[in-house]
Amino acid sequence: MRPQRRPRFQELDAMGLPEERGRSGSESRGQEEAGAGGRARSWSPPPEVSRSAHVPSLQRYRELHRRSVEEPREFWGDIAKEFYWKTLCPGPFLQYNFDVTKGKIFIEWMKGAITNICYNVLDRNVHEKKLGDKVAFYWEGNEPGETTQITYHELLVQVCQFSNVLRKQGIQKGDRVAIYMPMIPELVVAMLACARIGALHSIVISWNQGIDLWWHELMQEAGDECEPEWCDAEDPLFILYTSGSTGKPKGVVHTVGGYMLYVATTFKYVFDFHAADVFWCTADIGWITGHSYVTYGPLANGATSVLFEGIPTYPDVSRLWSIVDKYKVTKFYTAPTAIRLLMKFGDEPVTKHSRASLQVLGTVGEPINPEAWLWYHRVVGAQRCPIVDTFWQTETGGHMLTPLPGATPMKPGSATFPFFGVAPAILNESGEELEGEAEGYLVFKQPWPGIMRTVYGNHERFETTYFKKFPGYYVTGDGCRRDQDGYYWITGRIDDMLNVSGHLLSTAEVESALVEHEAVAEAAVVGHPHPVKGECLYCFVTLCDGHNFSPKLTEELKKQIREKIGPIATPDYIQNAPGLPKTRSGKIMRRVLRKIAQNDHDLGDTSTVADPSVISHLFSHRCLTIQ
Ligand code: WTA
Repeated sequence: MRPQRRPRFQELDAMGLPEERGRSGSESRGQEEAGAGGRARSWSPPPEVSRSAHVPSLQRYRELHRRSVEEPREFWGDIAKEFYWKTLCPGPFLQYNFDVTKGKIFIEWMKGAITNICYNVLDRNVHEKKLGDKVAFYWEGNEPGETTQITYHELLVQVCQFSNVLRKQGIQKGDRVAIYMPMIPELVVAMLACARIGALHSIVISWNQGIDLWWHELMQEAGDECEPEWCDAEDPLFILYTSGSTGKPKGVVHTVGGYMLYVATTFKYVFDFHAADVFWCTADIGWITGHSYVTYGPLANGATSVLFEGIPTYPDVSRLWSIVDKYKVTKFYTAPTAIRLLMKFGDEPVTKHSRASLQVLGTVGEPINPEAWLWYHRVVGAQRCPIVDTFWQTETGGHMLTPLPGATPMKPGSATFPFFGVAPAILNESGEELEGEAEGYLVFKQPWPGIMRTVYGNHERFETTYFKKFPGYYVTGDGCRRDQDGYYWITGRIDDMLNVSGHLLSTAEVESALVEHEAVAEAAVVGHPHPVKGECLYCFVTLCDGHNFSPKLTEELKKQIREKIGPIATPDYIQNAPGLPKTRSGKIMRRVLRKIAQNDHDLGDTSTVADPSVISHLFSHRCLTIQ
């Protein structure tokens, strides 16, 4: 299907914010427990949540976590029994090598077990669990009043029809299918149909004239029964492209069996899912968050979810809360950037809606600043909803560090503790594990079922990116601090990646889009703090001879980046840089540029700068306002 493209949820900031209104940042007390000696404050799980929770106490969490890490085969083996397997795993439940010095990196969970993820999330729910009439998705369009809903039975029928369409097109197991659709139920149908016939889905943002086909024309004649393709647990399920620090996007490959177990289990425990819940994850399905927590995780649990096509500020800034009330949403999951955006409009657009149904709130995508956490907790959650700050990555498939709503005392800004099966460590630059209070590289010591298996078509890149720096560990690329209570605090990326509104972008990717313009000889991009987006892009461009820097050129460059990468990458600042600070070997010193962008003259050691005069020039010509 090729509908008109509306701005997506996460692209909002890139389009410019509505006028700023009153800001509310006062802090709540709630069940706050002020720690002694200046410790970060913590909030205990509300007793009413703990009472009915799957994991009702910190002690129970610790017992389960210890078992999951010490006996991963037994722990995940028990969970696997809850799924349908045509053939059980005939050999070892888990085999892996995380150490590049010992040979090829590989991870295999349940290799040889035969299943189908679509069968598990649909047929089994309809036939075995008798959930056919249960609503799978309430769909809410951008225009209020534009709504529809789809039950598990209806979803199964449509998925079978579309599977038949795909098979008729000659698509077979192992083929790759690119899908281009907005946030509508048909997107979920298309993903699941691929999974049903064993084809890999890959969600893209551009339409390919001449190759792509129209949905309604294909569905008209399709039969509504379709035998699933039975797949090995280690067969690939999908490819999702994510920014790479060298500029070339990486195709992250996830597999059928391990991903299914991991997203189903994280969904159940992290959102403390119960049958009567109405779950709402605002993420775009084209993201990993949408794959795992709009499509596969909720459906694997037989959950009812809201699928929202629109944006949080249309027709007004209370839209999210009116939807919460309309569908009686119990668990709500969004990104810090959306929270910061809405905070700007004060409490009233939130509090004018009841929100009485809400029980658990979640965030994902970037570190949440305590001010935004406190507002989310006090205003949106009326101080009674635990917040699950979930740290994870496209590569991890599902949550890695996160509180559990009934068990974990929360600290604003901390993703708290590891999920089941996750063994984090903090390393110093020499690769030594640091104990107790520490700060360094966040790594994981052993595989969990949802870990990516390779970079599509480039296994070497997989090994280099995640396993070379510290042999024996999966390296996240994030910095992390552990406090005296053992809480983990993500401090941000340590490579050349930017996190704009929870979207990872590589500086190299943006730089190459800039130099593709005929006027640009060289470009350097650095991150700059932004009140809503977290980080925004500050670009330095050196022009080719004969070109002048002008507002027209800045507009052209922005347009170029929007077209090549997407609206999320639109720079806020572009500065003319006749020269860039470089080392004598010609390396651009981004560390210095970051300081210039922030007008911070404390540059540290600049003895390696080849031509120091460029620095003072750049300081005196800084961009002072967002362009
Ligand atoms: C960042 C999104 C702090 C982190 C699921 C990570 C976070 C990157 C959090 C992955 C969080 C995600 N706290 N930082 N709760 N969640 N990040 O692949 O830098 O789009 O490496 O996956 O986002 O982004 P990705």
